[in-house]
Amino acid sequence: MISEKSKQQIIDTARVEDIVGDFVTLKRRGANLQGLCPFHNEKTPSFNVNPARNIYKCFGCGEGGDPISFLMNYEQLSFPDALRYIAKKYGIEIEETAISAEAMQEKQLVDSLYIITEYAKNYYQKQLFDTDAGKSVGLSYFKSRGFREETIRKWGLGITPAKKDGFTKAATDAGYNLELLRQLGLTNKYDSDFFRERVMFTIRNLSGKIIAFAGRTLSKDKKTPKYINSPETDIYVKNKALFGIHFAKKTVRSEDECIMVEGYTDVISLHQAGIENVVASSGTSLTVGQINLIKRYTPNMKILYDGDAAGIKAALRGLDLVLEQDMNVKVVLLPDGEDPDSYLRKSGTAEFKKYIAEQAKDFIFFKTDLLLDEAGNDPVKKAALVQDIVGSIARIPDQIKRSFYTKECARVMDLPEKMLTEEVAKAVHAVLQQRKKEAEREERRRQNLRQNPAHQSQSPPSFTGSFPSAPFSDGFPTEEPFPGEGEMPPYPDAPGGDMPGVSQPTTVRGDTFQEKDIARILVCGGGKTLEKDGKVTVAQFILQEIQDVLDNFDHPLYAKVAKETLQLLVDKKEVNDDFFLRHKDEEIQQFAVNCYSPTYGTMSPGWYEKFEIILNTQKVPEENFKKDSEEGLKRFKLKKVIKMCADNQQRMKELDKGEVKKLIKLLKVQEKLLSMRNALAEELGTVVL
Ligand code: CTP
Ligand code: MN
Repeated sequence: MISEKSKQQIIDTARVEDIVGDFVTLKRRGANLQGLCPFHNEKTPSFNVNPARNIYKCFGCGEGGDPISFLMNYEQLSFPDALRYIAKKYGIEIEETAISAEAMQEKQLVDSLYIITEYAKNYYQKQLFDTDAGKSVGLSYFKSRGFREETIRKWGLGITPAKKDGFTKAATDAGYNLELLRQLGLTNKYDSDFFRERVMFTIRNLSGKIIAFAGRTLSKDKKTPKYINSPETDIYVKNKALFGIHFAKKTVRSEDECIMVEGYTDVISLHQAGIENVVASSGTSLTVGQINLIKRYTPNMKILYDGDAAGIKAALRGLDLVLEQDMNVKVVLLPDGEDPDSYLRKSGTAEFKKYIAEQAKDFIFFKTDLLLDEAGNDPVKKAALVQDIVGSIARIPDQIKRSFYTKECARVMDLPEKMLTEEVAKAVHAVLQQRKKEAEREERRRQNLRQNPAHQSQSPPSFTGSFPSAPFSDGFPTEEPFPGEGEMPPYPDAPGGDMPGVSQPTTVRGDTFQEKDIARILVCGGGKTLEKDGKVTVAQFILQEIQDVLDNFDHPLYAKVAKETLQLLVDKKEVNDDFFLRHKDEEIQQFAVNCYSPTYGTMSPGWYEKFEIILNTQKVPEENFKKDSEEGLKRFKLKKVIKMCADNQQRMKELDKGEVKKLIKLLKVQEKLLSMRNALAEELGTVVL
């Protein structure tokens, strides 16, 4: 393991312009550098590198981070491997520390599994190229399918001999551990080979390591399964594996699209023909894990279906999952009786490319057309179809996309747009309710953990700074605890906040704009003093005010930022932007990077040039931290107070007639809350309805 000291040295040495410059051609623009974004396909540069802050950020796709996250995201390196890359580049000698025996064992186990899969691939390949049976049966089979020799080698294709334990014997003779062969599923409990008399396909993970195999029978016997696959193992998690992803990832990124097919042979065929952004989920329906793998490289997916695919409707149902992950999905139906491999061989590459470009249909429209066709004039079927489509649209997290589809589908289905909009709204509400319930269940689970004495150490630290009393001396009323849960308050949300996103169950509890603002101020100015030559820092000022309500944040990320800052204060450590920009929690780091970059899409890169950095609400923040934090804090408090008012009101409504004492108490609380609310609103110059 890399020692802490080396790690720090490497992090301190790495320059973002050097590391990114290894992969991207950068041109100087003022204090910054600019280039074509390597994370998405673009013709005009919107990828910015900021040497002063040692970060990069793309205005086009939003990717951003520091030198290490660049290597991790672009080169798909692990954290230690990214450190090693940098060390090598700058000639830093790495000091290794011993790792725990347990961790060592685990690492060794995984390493040995990879060594065995590599050995197995070589064995199957040797059988194919170097034995008579392999050549006459396997090689000729692959060649008859049009695979060239370089393709066969690249994809690690092979064959297993007809022998009962040919592989197991060879492997154990070569010194490989029988127990590990069993763990990988290559050898069964009777010590014979799992794969027998099959041509073999090699399954790799993202970084190209071999994690599993698939074997295809050449027998025509209907009773023999066509493909058999390695079982799940420590290195093969089926719902996170995608066949071909290692060879496809580069092109998926540059083409900004991932093509999904069904079969191993389809993937190999298309790659051989130069269409390299292709993967297969290999026989299973798509999972969230697989979608997330693709999402690292592109939000766009094109799914090719065999022309005669039975159960295409069932397959479409699975695609709601993809919509939910905020992916753009297109569907291509191949001509009758063809799969991608056969159609490619029949039509040639150019024709094939043309076909899939022309035939690609947006998933929602594809589904609508398909169901419309089926429903004909049957009103019952048509009603079911509307619900089906509405259900799909409701899963799209992006509101603008949702309303676009609603509009278009209303047109296609010949229904009043208003009606469909209402149906979608209902369905979105149902989805959100469900998410909320899930989030609450999760919250309860966490609360239970917190209340469990064994976990006391997890409660947030508290901090008492010595600084003058804050401008808001009458903090929050103490009679009533902050309501953690509860209905959404019945007032309109402030503009500009995070929309409750379907894909972000953590934000469904409401508008978190004010919390985000607080987090932003802590990240960008936490260490600054509140007044010129004063002693109190922005972080101290804000946290003294809000530390009691840290557990009542609606958004876990912003709560995390605030708690981390509090921890720094408790530990008497410096609060600086570097702490967040280099934070090992990726979410926090991303947030910090975004704080320093203009919100992409809303501000032109020109602004960035001009001010170098800008915060979202103020143009010259450096001089304005006092105002910024005071106002941010007020907005935050106002929001919380309004919520408390609504909750309190609700509680009054729920009282039984006889509970006069309680009612009076609640009325008093309400009075106090309202006067706080009005005072805050007045100070902020906003009107509260
Ligand atoms: N599959 C499987 N088990 C089976 C049949 C199919 O795991 N018994 C998976 C495989 O990943 C296969 C995919 O489903 O690649 C598609 O199946 P199919 O179209 O039947 O196979 P192809 O890959 O097209 O194989 P070939 O072209 O050799 O018939
Ligand atoms: Mn096929």
